[in-house]
Amino acid sequence: MSLNSPAEVAAQYATDQHLRTRIETHRRYGVGPDLEAAVDRLLALCGEETLLDVGTGPGNFPGRLRAEGHRGRLVGVDLSAGMVEGATRAYPGVEFVQASADALPFPEGAFDVVTARHMLYHVPDVPAALAEFARVLRPGGHFLAVTNASGYMGELWEVVAEVATDEPAVGRLLDSRAGSAVFSELEGERQVREAFGNVRVDFLGSALVFPAPEPVLAYLESMTPLQRLARDDRTRIRATLRHALAPRFQAGEWRVSKRVAFISAVREERPPDASSAPRALPEPGTFYPGE
Ligand SMILES: C[S@@+](CC[C@H](N)C(=O)[O-])C[C@H]1O[C@@H](n2cnc3c(N)ncnc32)[C@H](O)[C@@H]1O
Repeated sequence: MSLNSPAEVAAQYATDQHLRTRIETHRRYGVGPDLEAAVDRLLALCGEETLLDVGTGPGNFPGRLRAEGHRGRLVGVDLSAGMVEGATRAYPGVEFVQASADALPFPEGAFDVVTARHMLYHVPDVPAALAEFARVLRPGGHFLAVTNASGYMGELWEVVAEVATDEPAVGRLLDSRAGSAVFSELEGERQVREAFGNVRVDFLGSALVFPAPEPVLAYLESMTPLQRLARDDRTRIRATLRHALAPRFQAGEWRVSKRVAFISAVREERPPDASSAPRALPEPGTFYPGE
């Protein structure tokens, strides 16, 4: 099973339960520059834009924009009915729609901004999804994908690789991880350039600092390959992972580095009667040097 297999995506995101565990891990143990501040800086919204967030999950991003006073239309799309239900309850000021990224139920040019945050590595046909994003963007509109850069949480994956030789279920975590390469900064930059004719890439370095092995185990167990294990298997795998993690905590805490990529583009194509000029992309760069 890979990260973009429809069955795995459906099982993982039937509700926001597992995603919430990971979001909470990043919230509690994250250190360094803030992802949301970097997104805001890149999008430079004035508050009037129509914005579509694809793969919105619990809807936290458009929900935050509305709470901060955004006045333009905000729409969140997700493939999962459970996610759409939860997001609709949590953020009544945002429209949520169940749909797939590669078949968006909106007319051409309906949005000023389209975002796809940590979702394109789940999509089986990325070029089809990017073509849809370009279609629903107005000429001059801005696309932003947020994704894991290569090497993301490398220290954690080293531990998983150590244990994977003896535990096939843990080995399947590595398949999932390899799946994120379908939309890393490398593949992502190429595919977005092909879809939009332009692209820029920025990076944000930060880290997770874990005080103990328990939240690391909870993070790993939120991923599909470690769910639905028989109780004995779960107990044994936990013990093996704890054993592999122990040397990492000798200094009291364990730091796992994160590097996130922001891949942006502008819809360049102008219909004959378009009056607004395409918005120019600023120079690409690294927001923060990483840690
Ligand atoms: C890792 S979560 C990211 C959620 C949110 N964007 C965030 O950054 O917290 C990925 C989300 O993408 C959704 N998703 C996966 N494939 C999709 C597709 N083809 N079309 C729309 N949404 C999809 C999943 O249901 C899930 O809610």
